[in-house]
Amino acid sequence: MKRALVTGGAGFVGSHVVDALLGRGIQVRILDLLTPPVHDGKLPDYVSTDAEFIRGDVRDPACMRSALRDAHYVFHMAAYQDYLPDFSTFFTTNAASTALLYELIVAERRDVELVVVASSQAVYGEGRYRCGRDGDVYPGPRSEEQLERAEWDHQCPECDGTLEPGWTGESVMAPHNSYGLSKRDQDEIAVKLGARYRIPSVALRYSIVQGPRQSFRNAYSGALRNFTVQLGSGVQPLVYEDGAQLRDYVGVRDVVRATLLPLDRPAMQGSSFNVGGDRSVSVLELAGLVGRALGRASEPRVSGHYRVGDTRHIRSDVSRLKSHGWAPQETLEDVVRGYVEWATSHPEFHNAAAAAHDRMKQLGVLRESASAVSTARG
Ligand SMILES: NC(=O)c1ccc[n+]([C@@H]2O[C@H](COP(=O)([O-])OP(=O)(O)OC[C@H]3O[C@@H](n4cnc5c(N)ncnc54)[C@H](O)[C@@H]3O)[C@@H](O)[C@H]2O)c1
Repeated sequence: MKRALVTGGAGFVGSHVVDALLGRGIQVRILDLLTPPVHDGKLPDYVSTDAEFIRGDVRDPACMRSALRDAHYVFHMAAYQDYLPDFSTFFTTNAASTALLYELIVAERRDVELVVVASSQAVYGEGRYRCGRDGDVYPGPRSEEQLERAEWDHQCPECDGTLEPGWTGESVMAPHNSYGLSKRDQDEIAVKLGARYRIPSVALRYSIVQGPRQSFRNAYSGALRNFTVQLGSGVQPLVYEDGAQLRDYVGVRDVVRATLLPLDRPAMQGSSFNVGGDRSVSVLELAGLVGRALGRASEPRVSGHYRVGDTRHIRSDVSRLKSHGWAPQETLEDVVRGYVEWATSHPEFHNAAAAAHDRMKQLGVLRESASAVSTARG
């Protein structure tokens, strides 16, 4: 019987990966630290009792060594995702743990047949744009001065012309926050050390993943959770900037199919792939979909607030993964409906968004633009 190690297997995506592996008759061992604020110190009820559970740290060589014992496959899902300025934690948890994994596999001549790492769309930063004069451009982050003036859109760094947001393929990584930088390192460690030491490896760059089991306490989980909690509690949804930001959302079931695909497709080894929704919507459109799923009118409050370091538009081109036979099957409407049903029946449903909003304000991540200040003054 084949055995898999799933790091972060008590988390949102990892727990669904665990269930799918068990469903294929693969024995599963989970290594997870049950890190706050995502967890409250207890093993969540949804974690399958058919999997072996080790509470431990992916940064700790002894833990990783014992968790790796006899594993044929490794799914490295554990990660630190937050807005906190503890920069080194991103690199030790996301990147150094990946280097440690390869170090142990090489040093101990482990017979690992496949490593899959959960990379992220965050490796692209602002992603690809199209300028009528200069062609493809990859702008850097918007300046704080620009955001204070409520000028949300990028301009061409070469000619100051208007830019059209494109679909971003896998070729250019340009992260600009500590999470994205650490994920880029993780992605390159897996693909490059994997190739160098003949350890079959695949990096999957997930877009925004949505579905049941996403922690209400994760400051990083985005607009769908916030809109659901706000609208479901009768509060007008709060939209940052002007609400025109484009994103592609992907359902967790489609992400799990993509994550297990390398087991059946050896041709994927040695590469990175986008795993996205194949359709983009604006944040305002997303608020409308949540309102419809809840049967409530959604009149979002376009507040002029912005978050420092937010990406204007980002959407991933999934053609490379499609060439291996994968395509998203869940529509965005299904994803939103499924999430809303799960979230509204969750005991932590109420007050969760307010808490997340307050926390970001405390951390200084949330700021007001000139337009927000003038609106507030009437
Ligand atoms: N959810 C998304 O939208 C999304 C998007 C892009 C990439 N990803 C990536 O997918 C993976 C899973 O994300 P998720 O949304 O399920 O996150 P999650 O926070 O729900 O799960 C991560 C798990 O890792 C565990 N963990 C954290 N630090 C650890 C450590 N030092 N040692 C052992 N375990 C530790 C946590 O306890 C948690 O159970 C991550 O690698 C993340 O970067 C997620």
